[in-house]
Amino acid sequence: MAFLSCRGENILRYVYLLSAGARASNVNKYDSISNPTGCINMGTSENRLVFDLLKDRMNKLSVKWEDDMYTYPDYQGIPELRQAVAEFLTDQAKSPEPLDPKNITIMNGGGICIEALTFAICDPGDAMMVASPYYGGFDRDAVLRPEAKVIPVHFHSEPDEPGQTEPFQITQSKFESVYQEETAKGVKIRAVFFMNPNNPLGDVPSKQLLLDMLHFCHRHSLHLIVNEVYMNSIFKEGVKFHSFLSLKPEEVPDPERVHFVWAGSKDLTMSGMRFGVIHTLNSSISSCINRFTYFHLIPVYIQRVMAHLFSDKDWWNNVFFPTNLKRLREAHKLTTDALDEMGIPYLNRPSGLYVYADLKKFIPSLTEAGELALFHRLIDDGVYISPSLAFFSDERGWFRIIFSRPPDEVKVAMARLARTCQAFLEENRQL
Ligand SMILES: Cc1ncc(COP(=O)(O)O)c(C=O)c1O
Repeated sequence: MAFLSCRGENILRYVYLLSAGARASNVNKYDSISNPTGCINMGTSENRLVFDLLKDRMNKLSVKWEDDMYTYPDYQGIPELRQAVAEFLTDQAKSPEPLDPKNITIMNGGGICIEALTFAICDPGDAMMVASPYYGGFDRDAVLRPEAKVIPVHFHSEPDEPGQTEPFQITQSKFESVYQEETAKGVKIRAVFFMNPNNPLGDVPSKQLLLDMLHFCHRHSLHLIVNEVYMNSIFKEGVKFHSFLSLKPEEVPDPERVHFVWAGSKDLTMSGMRFGVIHTLNSSISSCINRFTYFHLIPVYIQRVMAHLFSDKDWWNNVFFPTNLKRLREAHKLTTDALDEMGIPYLNRPSGLYVYADLKKFIPSLTEAGELALFHRLIDDGVYISPSLAFFSDERGWFRIIFSRPPDEVKVAMARLARTCQAFLEENRQL
């Protein structure tokens, strides 16, 4: 008799490609003094550049333990936190109208918000479309427990679609043709997942693209799950960002089918605090999700800490964000200067914690096995970066390099990358 249900077996079979890198850089964690030969984690999308600011501000908080912290809270999120988040997002996303806290649900992380929306929108086997390469965790969020299907719409570094001028440029026409192909096969597509800004590319979509996606979804009565977890990580100065929340009501054809996700893991650099937000105008969707937020609550103490933090607008706008963006800019430059020196092409993009770099020239056999061989070889040599396979791309040879690390670590990692890529090429060329 098997121990597990079929569902349990499916979960067990789910492969986390990046776990080898995460494991190596945890078990044998690099430290310039205590473990200089350890593995440097340039794979996990975390920003470790401003912990000094956070620590300093958190230590000044005076949140006291109160009786209500020992009891069951409002499962949608405590009202003062939803109010603080509504005000914060109204400012940050430049919403034309103040956001209403009743449309906001707080859960423990951005990933769980995506999963919750998938549960509310899709039955098992229903599908969601997403432009590839895409944030690999989306596959886990949508597939692992909700059992939805993900349909990638593949874009490539060489423009191969009418109207494309940029590598990996997302077009509505490609979405349309994949939609037609899949629905003709009987696939029931329910939603599109869209990243604004994009992970792993670092693109900041134009307003026209947002409108195109809204109209595409409207045409086919699809939901649009909008992920804006990097909206405050646009480090290049002068770049215009358009949040979906900034659109005027008349620009959104089907407002009840647009659902917004944000989190503290990237923009606020606090992945360990497990803080995520859904904003939706659809009362059926939010009521459904609020029925099971019980399973995904943040402890009340932490909710109150977050409410206090959000209300300190002066600190976010004049200390945290400007310092964070400056350090991201510097770390990005350090990384891209090293890539330039190695002659490695990359997408020079204005946002995110990462650079998507083209390591094809080091992989003589440009196959899944070839890409994975370089991935594992880099880990063995002390640097973990994420291959294109982790982003469900169909174009091999690209790797995402997370640069939001202390400068000395970035320098050591980039030197290791240069050495290992060259050695890997030499060794494999002879085969
Ligand atoms: C685009 C995107 N969405 C969601 C998440 C998950 O966020 P959280 O850690 O808050 O669950 C990530 C984490 O890498 C991400 O990159």
